[in-house]
Formats: sequence, structure tokens, C-alpha cells
Amino acid sequence: MQVTVPSFAKLNLDLRVLHKRPDGYHELRTIFQTISLKDTLSIEFDFAKRTQIDLSSSIDIADNLVVRSARLILEHLKIQAWVRFVLEKQIPMGAGLGGGSSNAAAVLLALPALAGRPVPTAELVRLAESLGSDVPFFFYGGTALGCGRGTELYPLPDQPPRWAVVVSSGIHVSTAEAYRALNRTVTDSLTSPTQSPILREFQTIAWMLDGSGLEQLPLKNDFEEPVAEIHRELAAVVRKLRKLGARPALMTGSGSAVFGVFSAAQDARAAANQFRADTAWVVRFLPRRQYLARWRRALGPAMEASHFVRQ
Ligand code: C5P
Repeated sequence: MQVTVPSFAKLNLDLRVLHKRPDGYHELRTIFQTISLKDTLSIEFDFAKRTQIDLSSSIDIADNLVVRSARLILEHLKIQAWVRFVLEKQIPMGAGLGGGSSNAAAVLLALPALAGRPVPTAELVRLAESLGSDVPFFFYGGTALGCGRGTELYPLPDQPPRWAVVVSSGIHVSTAEAYRALNRTVTDSLTSPTQSPILREFQTIAWMLDGSGLEQLPLKNDFEEPVAEIHRELAAVVRKLRKLGARPALMTGSGSAVFGVFSAAQDARAAANQFRADTAWVVRFLPRRQYLARWRRALGPAMEASHFVRQ
């Protein structure tokens, strides 16, 4: 059995880091958005006496989430299989675009479909959380509000068609390091809306995200300042995107990719031309319906058993 599945990237349109939690993770509030930039994952699958997982990729990947996710889901299904992945990477790594997480979600969705063994959503989400905080979002896509570790997700209305220029200069930022740079503590009392201007501002943004005016909103990424302290060139890219008309222009995730949003494709293309071709991508916001339709097309009837398609 063989399938080829798309594995899309995300942007964080806004990202606020609150206090450090007793479990070591940080409480956050974020707005996720899937975009058209994607990796392509081909999967060959067959039942076997002993599990064997091969991966060949267009680039070298050290700690690979594809293989880890495959082992996890096969163990969960209690099956032995021969699985061969071919991963064509387009999404820059260590850039805050969720490429690794998206690949992981793709594997968690595809292997049960290939094995003809649907896994209940709650179990799939639990496995996804164990692989990374951004993984569960990729079961849903579209525009979503992320709370807690980033794994508690609520749908937000689709944005009108928008384009973004994503600029990634190849700087690799470690997520754990970025959180450390923020220096939040367990006792930072940022969780009460009455005490926290951060939460009040975030709430306003979430309420106003009805598609009318992304460009008017005070969108922010709390990682941008500390990461730009270490990698000074990032601030210059944000400034350049703003100057070229992007609203907003900010960093995604814990960096280092930066993006600028445009409401017309030709403006995005013109802006992208001002950057080195191999560092800038013009992408489209990908609404949830389209995101899930791409999955359904790839996985066919096996996907219909899943609750995700009913979004
Ligand atoms: O969950 P993920 O593997 O992406 O997290 C990588 C690291 O980032 C964690 O080990 C943790 O140090 C940090 N992190 C955090 N709070 C979050 C998400 C990640 O402190 N909400």
C-alpha cells in the first residue's frame, strides 16, 4: 500500500508566553494559521513479522520525528510493519514553521489509515502531545487558538484570502533555548486577565479576528525580541517587510523565520523579489476546509472514519 500526503507549515499570527508551569512547560496563548508551504511525504506500508522503518529525505535530518512518530503509532496499534518514507523537504527546519510537527501529525494520521485501523481522536491527540506541543494543531489546520502548552486548541474563523512572504535565512533556533531566553518563572503571575495586560491584549485580538482587519491588530510574538537580540539580522528583515507594505510583519514560533502578510498576491510577490530567492517564499493562508480536503484526497475513505474530517 502506498500514499503520498502533504505536510503543511504553520505561522503563529500571535504568540504570548505567560508563566513557567510546574511541569517545566510554559503556559501560552497563540493563534496558529496553516499555510500552503509544504513538505511531501510518500509512505509505503506493509504488514511484516518485524517492524522496519526506512526514511530517505531530500536533506539530512538528525533527530527525526517521522521515524519516532511511526514507531509510536505502530506500538500503539500493536502491529509490526515494514514502512518506507520518502520525505521531500520544502519547509525550513528550526525556523518556527512547524515542519517537524507537521510531518509527525502526517505519520500519525496516515499509518492507521494504511493499516485499516482507525485510532480514536483522543488517543491520537495524546500521542501527538507526547511528540511535541505543535503536533496536535496539524490534525485540524486552518486558523486556531492554542492555549496551555499549545496543545489545547479551539477553532477561529477563517481569514479572508491572504498571502504571506516567509523569509528564512537558515538560522536554527532551539525552541528550549528561546524559552530560556524569555526567562519567565513559575511565579510570574500572568494568568489572571485582571492582572495581565498581555492576556487582555490577546483577548482583544482573538475577538477581532473575524477577518476584517488583520493589519489593524497589535499582533505580537513574545520570542521576537529575545531571539533578535541573539540574531540581530532578524529585526532588519521585519523592518524591510514592513517597509514593503506587509501588515503584520513578525517572527513565527520561536524563530527564526519571519513573515509579512499581504492582502494581494502581486504585492507579496513583489516583496519576495526583494529578498534572495532561496530565502523567501510566497505562500497562501490555507483555510481548514481546504487543509482537510487535501488530507481526504490523500488518504481517501480511511480518513472518513476520523472525526477530523467533520470540521
Ligand atoms: O513540545 P516541544 O517539543 O515543542 O518543546 C520543546 C521545548 O520547548 C520543551 O522541552 C520546553 O523546554 C519548551 N516549551 C515550553 N513551553 C511550551 C512548549 C515548549 O517551555 N509551551
